[in-house]
Amino acid sequence: MHMQSVQERAEAQSQHEQAQYTRGHQRIASELDKGYIMERDSEEVTTAYGLLPHGLFIGTPEPSASAADYVGRENGGVQSAAGVVRSDADMSAAVLNGSEAQYDPSIPVAEELLKSKLRSDPARLNRRYFDALSKSILEVVQQVRMGGGKSGRWEQERERLGGVVKTVRMIIESVFPGSTVHQVGSTVSGLALADADLDFTVLFPRGTNYTAVQCVERLAGALKLDGPFGEVKPLPRAKVPILKLKDMATGIRCDISFGNELALHNTKLLATYALLDHRVRQMTVFRELPSISLHPPESDLVTSVKHWVKRKGINFPVMGHPSSYCYTLLVINFLQRRNVIPSLQTLPPSGSGTVPERLLTTSSGSYNVYFHNEPDRLHEIWQTENEETVGELLLAFFKDFGTELDFVYKVSSVRTGGLLHKAEKNWSKDSANGRSGGGRIKHWMAVEDPFDLEQNLSSSVDRDMLHAIRGHFQVASKILCGATDLPASKSLGLETMGTAALARAVVEKICEECEPLKRGGVSGRSAAAFGGGVGRRGRKSKGIYLGE
Ligand code: CTP
Ligand code: MG
Repeated sequence: MHMQSVQERAEAQSQHEQAQYTRGHQRIASELDKGYIMERDSEEVTTAYGLLPHGLFIGTPEPSASAADYVGRENGGVQSAAGVVRSDADMSAAVLNGSEAQYDPSIPVAEELLKSKLRSDPARLNRRYFDALSKSILEVVQQVRMGGGKSGRWEQERERLGGVVKTVRMIIESVFPGSTVHQVGSTVSGLALADADLDFTVLFPRGTNYTAVQCVERLAGALKLDGPFGEVKPLPRAKVPILKLKDMATGIRCDISFGNELALHNTKLLATYALLDHRVRQMTVFRELPSISLHPPESDLVTSVKHWVKRKGINFPVMGHPSSYCYTLLVINFLQRRNVIPSLQTLPPSGSGTVPERLLTTSSGSYNVYFHNEPDRLHEIWQTENEETVGELLLAFFKDFGTELDFVYKVSSVRTGGLLHKAEKNWSKDSANGRSGGGRIKHWMAVEDPFDLEQNLSSSVDRDMLHAIRGHFQVASKILCGATDLPASKSLGLETMGTAALARAVVEKICEECEPLKRGGVSGRSAAAFGGGVGRRGRKSKGIYLGE
């Protein structure tokens, strides 16, 4: 018997494949009007063919699936084993982009997207697209972050802000002798956008009995009489009483709170998170925190999310939105749950095996403000294996917030680095509890303050607002992953673009400016804005879970 040489076997194999390929073409030509067809090898589908207006799609499905799993003629497409229906437009994108447009299962978010209910375009979920997406996000962030844009702006902004900080300090210290004025918030933590406000909190020596409301009114009175501030807006009845100012010469806005000593600690906590990983930060730093040497800007996720929530008009606490501080914590918690960063509050100091307590006692209670604050030595006790890019993480974050996070039962907790159950906190969307009690607080959305554990930072977000905000996240994730069910106004006709142009267009599209979402008026608007994707009572919308 003639034994085939290796070379002969290879040739035979190649001829067989060629024949199969040709047969596929012929069958497609003969079944032109029948949509997609399958090449079968016994009971298993080996190849799926699709004849499209722009050309031919040839894909290799999962070997264990049967033809029935793939044919979705009523949907006008082929369904992959992961359950994603690909429309003609998706197919043509795959064809036009050739080998670049292959779904890459080694990218975690690509795999997750195909398993999710978002109807992603698999052809888009590849390394080239995510790299281009990361690049486009960073381009935007470099423009919008504090000190970004033209070179030298960082120094200029530092000077500009420094002048206002000095003036505010001087005035407050003269109105309240003995007080100390502390800068907090993003311009200190390093997570600031170019037009961030300056946040301050004023502390008094022990034994001083001013209430925050009295302080707000007294300082507002003094500043209205005299001072460089064009706008002086006291908000004594806000959850945290605050005085808002706008400096006439520079246009810089300031928020002044009183006695919020915890703000100093939570600002340092955020600053330390910002230093841990380039994916957390993208910002400019204006002054050095004691013991932490902050560096000039790099890439990040927080800043891009802060920019995006601003463009969507969903970052105004007075309108019932989460605050910037709250969004920042949500991003940090997401990165913790993805093992990009740890929970600093659960890690011991370097060289110690136990996690200590560090109690801060104020007039409103005692708080454990310990956290691991040696970012330079963190690698000795914690390392990440997560290598996802900002593009992948941003899409994963939008997907998580928009469609997956269980807002009905769960609490986002940076303190623990995970999600808690609302029942553990005695928080619920139906019943009221907590410090402000009185039957008014309904915890539809729950974000635990890292130190003030009784404070739900998103308790002012009501049910409709939560749906509408999630709608924005959902639409952004759909645009990013090229979902096949996007309404015409949101889809971009992208299949003819190259990858870099596609990524730029996608980032531009998700960042389109929207009117701020108004309390009580969100449902109709949002339904229209999201192409019917989110409804007032929309428990389920187009198969996507939106919370209860
Ligand atoms: N803060 C707080 N408790 C809140 C809200 C805010 O302690 N419920 C403190 C935090 O220290 C926070 C600071 O106030 O860092 C400023 O809050 P905010 O302006 O919302 O956050 P920023 O990070 O400064 O965001 P932006 O850059 O948009 O101003
Ligand atoms: Mg601020």
